[in-house]
Amino acid sequence: MKKKVLSALISVAMVATLLIGCGAKAEEAPAAEAPAATEEATEEATEEAPAAEEEAPAAEATGTKVGVSMPTKDLQRWNQDGANMEAELKAAGYEVDLQYASNDVQTQVSQIENMINSGCNVLVIAAIDGSSLGEPLDMAKAAGIPVIAYDRLIMNSDAVSYYATFDNYMVGTKQGEYIEQALDLANAEGPFNMEITAGDPGDNNAGFFYQGAMDVLQKYIDEGKINVVSGQTKFEEVATAQWSTEAAQSRAENILSSNYADGTQLDIWLCSNDSTSMGVQNALEANYTGKYPVITGQDCDKANVKNMIAGKQSMSIFKDTRTLASQVVKMVGQILSGETVDVNDTETYDNGTGVIPSYLCEPVFADVNNYKELLIDSGYYTEADLQ
Ligand code: BGC
Repeated sequence: MKKKVLSALISVAMVATLLIGCGAKAEEAPAAEAPAATEEATEEATEEAPAAEEEAPAAEATGTKVGVSMPTKDLQRWNQDGANMEAELKAAGYEVDLQYASNDVQTQVSQIENMINSGCNVLVIAAIDGSSLGEPLDMAKAAGIPVIAYDRLIMNSDAVSYYATFDNYMVGTKQGEYIEQALDLANAEGPFNMEITAGDPGDNNAGFFYQGAMDVLQKYIDEGKINVVSGQTKFEEVATAQWSTEAAQSRAENILSSNYADGTQLDIWLCSNDSTSMGVQNALEANYTGKYPVITGQDCDKANVKNMIAGKQSMSIFKDTRTLASQVVKMVGQILSGETVDVNDTETYDNGTGVIPSYLCEPVFADVNNYKELLIDSGYYTEADLQ
């Protein structure tokens, strides 16, 4: 049942993605030089990424080049992912071509084509729009270059060899369960007022996050214990293009002014990640004077952890990007040496051409009670990072 709802949702998301993807696709990808990423890394982004804990596997890596294509430097997590990947791959002896695509699909397409043309032996790609990489991936396949989808599944391409990510459905489940426990939904009378902000329909993960949380919370909505005052509950209604903080903020401002300006209490705001959660928190700051709701997030971005400590965000999901980088570097080595590649899920992630063998790392929740242990004691952040 759960699976059916999820796959129905994902089909809807995929159709939406395809439509958006087609719109965004440029006619012809330039064959020459890929444009350099134009973004300036933020001050935080240029800081050292947390050091990888695990040893990289020994690999026959000399002369082997790995292309790492990341979506954007705008969000802190991708800077960490890129830096961790680069450090671990270099430590294992690989040459690395790391590119950021400014959240622009055509830039990512060009960068990947350039990686293929310049002799990369493996590609590791975190897609901006999971359905818009068909052409460069066809090129990769024709050139015999294996592709690992990093964190976000690449859709509708049979060139994807493996997928490595965190368990995306579990991310949503943990957000839903956090809300359930924070308000003792099983025993409390309620009703509680809730709003929902989800992620980018072009990102296959977004549907999993949303559905994981809704599978925990839907029964409380059905029994009237949770009331979504705006009435906006469907994924398409609550999604946020490109995970934009500004878009999340402006939608939240509209919801607050239309539904809560009369003093209606808001108890819960389910947000799929930290960038959208930040938009909601900005909107609340200026447009809401009632008791602060339980607000979720994901990524443990520094700004969000600071807000968590200040009582403005209730929780975030910690996805240790060091773990994912280590796993992917291990998979690169296994692919290149013809060993069996380490996967732990061969059922969940069908990209439209079949199930992609996946490795799912486990996410955990962080809040004001455990963040020190998770984030500081583990060396992910320093105390100073969070001040
Ligand atoms: C990632 C999240 C991230 C979001 C926005 C998703 O694909 O899994 O960790 O918050 O993209 O960048």
